[in-house]
Amino acid sequence: MNKHLRDQLIQRAVDAKKTSYSPYSKFRVGASILTSDGEIFSGCNVENASYGLAICAERNAVFQAAFAGKRKIVAVAVTSDEKAFITPCGACRQVLSEFADGNAEIILVSAAGKTKSVKFKKIFPTPPALEKLKK
Ligand code: THU
Repeated sequence: MNKHLRDQLIQRAVDAKKTSYSPYSKFRVGASILTSDGEIFSGCNVENASYGLAICAERNAVFQAAFAGKRKIVAVAVTSDEKAFITPCGACRQVLSEFADGNAEIILVSAAGKTKSVKFKKIFPTPPALEKLKK
């Protein structure tokens, strides 16, 4: 990925964080997704008074991309207001695995804008055992 696209992807995650609906946890998260055709989708976390119904920023972004008909994720950026990097939760990793292969780049972005990249296979090492269920 070239630097311009990478910067754009990161900025979209930062922008998405601004629309986080997180009155319960006060933990704002923004995520963005780069699809194989170079398009970027983003999402924020959206919470609910029934706490367990909150949706993470990463899944929101994946679903925005899927709704637009995109089926291949090549990179993801995720950011919060934390000094430390945050990584996608287990549920989001499973959902990402539907559309991202092990080489997808996961860009972790601190509140201050520091970044760290990891390959998706590093945070989701299990091969997709459910692959055969796909038509
Ligand atoms: N959250 C995300 O959106 N992504 C993560 O990677 C970690 C957690 C959200 C869920 C909930 O709205 C809030 O952060 C606190 O867990």
